[in-house]
Amino acid sequence: MEYFVSSVAPARARTGCAVVGLYEGGRLSDTARSLNKACGRRIAAAVGAGDITGKLGETLLLSRLPGLAAERVLLVGLGAPEALDRKRFRRAMIETSAVLKRIGARDAINYLALESVRGADARTLARHSIEVLEHVLYRSGAMKTGPERPVSLARFGIGCDRAGRAGVEAGIREGAAVAAGVRLTRDLGNLPANVCTPTYLAKAARDLAKAHRGIQVEVLDAAQMKKLGMNTLLAVAKASDEPAKLIVVQYHGAKKRQPPIVLVGKGITFDSGGICIKPALDLDEMKFDMCGAASVLGTIDAIARMELPMDVVGVIPAVENMPGGAATRPGDIVKSMSGRTVEILNTDAEGRLILCDSITYARRFKPEILIDVATLTGACVIALGSVYSGLMSTDDALAAALRRASEESGDLVWQLPMSEEYADQLKSPFADFANIGGRPGGAITAACFLAKFTDGMRWAHLDIAGTAWVSGLNKGATGRPVPLLVQFLLARLQQAQAAEQA
Ligand code: BES
Ligand code: MN
Ligand code: ZN
Repeated sequence: MEYFVSSVAPARARTGCAVVGLYEGGRLSDTARSLNKACGRRIAAAVGAGDITGKLGETLLLSRLPGLAAERVLLVGLGAPEALDRKRFRRAMIETSAVLKRIGARDAINYLALESVRGADARTLARHSIEVLEHVLYRSGAMKTGPERPVSLARFGIGCDRAGRAGVEAGIREGAAVAAGVRLTRDLGNLPANVCTPTYLAKAARDLAKAHRGIQVEVLDAAQMKKLGMNTLLAVAKASDEPAKLIVVQYHGAKKRQPPIVLVGKGITFDSGGICIKPALDLDEMKFDMCGAASVLGTIDAIARMELPMDVVGVIPAVENMPGGAATRPGDIVKSMSGRTVEILNTDAEGRLILCDSITYARRFKPEILIDVATLTGACVIALGSVYSGLMSTDDALAAALRRASEESGDLVWQLPMSEEYADQLKSPFADFANIGGRPGGAITAACFLAKFTDGMRWAHLDIAGTAWVSGLNKGATGRPVPLLVQFLLARLQQAQAAEQA
């Protein structure tokens, strides 16, 4: 998709489709009003005829109106003006994008970013517009043969006034970068486990390094991990024919070297459960168990596209969890890289086993902040469903910053408590601790397990088990939490820059 800014008077802008807003009660937005004047009040006539009322998300397509350079006008309901916030704006953009996907327009100009939306400037609205558009237009066609009807839309403009131009340009750059990161994350997530193996993920990381100056990739193999003592990670890989990889992606954007933000992403390319094998129902969906890993690659892709002046390291344990003669058995005890022993009571609680050694490995980067991202627990799906990702942290300020980024990006998180009482569930009579704590509070005990490896670090954990993909007819990866993580990083940068100027 090609993006551009349009500050031409809307009635004179030559485009396949001009997208303008209509408020509840039939009140035209300013841009809709100017188009209405130029076309002999045909827009008001359609509203007067009752074809659209202005309720949030309603759409009406009008073709070939006289006096307009645009071939079509898409009227979009924005609801009550005082209620219009980022969330409702995104709703309106979802409906807009669905129409643009369906019709034959090659290009369009979106004037909705000119509306006043609570808590969002034109730059933010431009960014949301593009993120939503690409989300809706996305298709996962990598494994299909034969031709598919392509989407016609190739150019997408954001209408703005002269004063807003620089902001909208920045918003377009950010939106396109986030959308690209989300796309990469979805593409990797949607690939089947016979294609997207640990080796394939390593190749995807190397491709990122080829695409961007500023990214370097190192891949550790099992022998190197063995030397480092990463035995809990290797315990998960034991029965798979796919060799385990530890993928380290370093993005250097800061002018001076600084302690990096480290993102650790769970990369189980298929989670059969191991000896504690999962039931067959929906087992195909365990190919998505590497979505944390994919989101770390997607986030780094996005920030590299924006050339953000910061340092970020991605640490991605990529492993397949299979049963077999060499598999880890329930009750096996292994020594983690941290030196502590773990009794593996359930081989299906494997995410935490690869994450704990990765967190210990990440200490060598002396992280300013470490955030891990993982499709970690079914319990988190039960607690929060598919709307909010679970957020758990031992650092209140970091958790608050992530919650703020969640509100701003629309990529929602809900914080779960992490009091010490929960950690008691991980006691083992034989080892330093067990890898499961029973069913109650399962998302939290999983986080408590990870917390045992984060002493002295500013750390947060995102459980994306319910949000990384959708099931059912529209099955597929969502690209979450890339928008959240990018927003979090952008906000940190803006704060640092503001502090420098003060
Ligand atoms: N990858 C799964 C978690 C999962 C399950 C994500 C369903 C999305 C949907 C994870 O490795 C797992 O199996 N967790 C177990 C932990 C339990 C054995 C303590 C679970 O949630 O059942
Ligand atoms: Mn599992
Ligand atoms: Zn898993």
